[in-house]
Amino acid sequence: MHYNHDPKFPEGFFWGASSAAWQAEGATKADGRTPAIIDLNSQKKKPFADNSIAADHYNHYKEDVALMAECGFTSYRFSLAWPRIIPHSDRKVNQAGIDFYNNLIDELLQYNITPIVTLYHYDMPVWVEEKCNGWLDRSIVDEFEYYSKVCFEHFGDRVKYWLAINEQNMQICYGDWLGVSKGCDDWFKQKWIINHNMNLCSAKAVIACHEMVEGGKIGPVPGMVPIYPETCKPMDQIGAMNAEEFTEKLWNDTNVYGKYSNFLKNYWKNHDIDPGIQPGDEELMAKAKVDFIGVNCYRSNTGKYAPANAKTQDYLLNKDGVKGNLTFPVVPGEYALTSNPYVETNDWDWEIDPVSLRYTLRYLWDHYHLPMIITENGFGMHESKDADGQVHDPERIDFLRENIYQVGLAIEDGCEVLGYNPWSFTDILSTGNGMAKRYGLVYIDATDEELVNAKDSSELAMNRIKKDSFYWYSKLIKSNGRDW
Ligand code: BG6
Repeated sequence: MHYNHDPKFPEGFFWGASSAAWQAEGATKADGRTPAIIDLNSQKKKPFADNSIAADHYNHYKEDVALMAECGFTSYRFSLAWPRIIPHSDRKVNQAGIDFYNNLIDELLQYNITPIVTLYHYDMPVWVEEKCNGWLDRSIVDEFEYYSKVCFEHFGDRVKYWLAINEQNMQICYGDWLGVSKGCDDWFKQKWIINHNMNLCSAKAVIACHEMVEGGKIGPVPGMVPIYPETCKPMDQIGAMNAEEFTEKLWNDTNVYGKYSNFLKNYWKNHDIDPGIQPGDEELMAKAKVDFIGVNCYRSNTGKYAPANAKTQDYLLNKDGVKGNLTFPVVPGEYALTSNPYVETNDWDWEIDPVSLRYTLRYLWDHYHLPMIITENGFGMHESKDADGQVHDPERIDFLRENIYQVGLAIEDGCEVLGYNPWSFTDILSTGNGMAKRYGLVYIDATDEELVNAKDSSELAMNRIKKDSFYWYSKLIKSNGRDW
């Protein structure tokens, strides 16, 4: 990477990191928490660790926040676990769950770290799934609204930045992988009902946030993977546009404009899909005005046109961290994804493409003109301690440096970017690969095998070891992005 000059970050820029409850907290049976759908999903992924212990953040939050403060954080993005807050169908609020998050928020504020809180990051309580048939039944909207209001009521005096549903687009695109498709017998059609119900849930949360949280701001969190056309053939441009539409754009349009696009309505008509829109739904969505966009962006993809007679291919993600084990999707008549010879990949075949972050910020700014907070970006890798007991991660430092440089360029391009919160602070469980795919600035000294075999976290030390990237990031933060 060639750096022409030092990027400049605005005063008050949020420097932090990001996590999610089910991937960090552990303590899944503690203090009244009941199971979440993602617990059951993660338990199927052995030999990779299930989330019973995870990074044991529930029992280490004070130590973790002190480390964030040492690093110089001014923000921290995390999610609330719905089954910790409302563990049963009687809707009774679990005081122990509220206490945990109150303590975490107070601890952050004591160090002047601004909390950025996600309402939902894949951990629907099992009781909700049973009652509402996952996301399929509209009764989910009432449950979600009630849960959101409980969160705003208890934490809204101190939490002013809220995120509604993490990566709704990815949940619909990869329903099986993230456990969302349960209960569906025709995913191709029913995913649009789920999607609509999620939109109603988000809309209710946005409206309630504005009504209940003084000065509260709330936004969506799309998983952004920008699509470059494979060639300058005109039909590859259309293929890339189709891929972008079906993996991210239609969600962004709906979230920001509060209505469904003609593109999507025509698609539903052509495929005989009824997403279950009822009178009043579109008015509700239109009323929910988001304040900013949370941006999750790790990589790019490359797209081309796929003719109508092409053979369908599902997207088979690389689930074992051995390069070359990914199969790109082909959607006949719409698009195919393909590899990009101009970028390297990590062990999970994810493109290492810092420019995609600048591209994404430019793209979102040009389309929607809303402030943005980077809520995820990061480098997953196989890692272990070195002989000196430390963890040296020059690849992650390079990744962060180059991505942050691109954020600086996007700001110079005119984008309004409020903060950078990479994934993740400590190592936490990857969605499919547990601790085998680590992202943290701080190493958690436990392997998948140890986590799976331990009865509970008291059997493990769960030591935190600052990686080289922690020290590098700390210097960068303390110079507001000037000390590379
Ligand atoms: C994001 C999710 O899409 O990607 C996180 O919001 C996830 O929950 C992250 O952990 C990285 O993906 P993975 O599969 O490497 O854990």
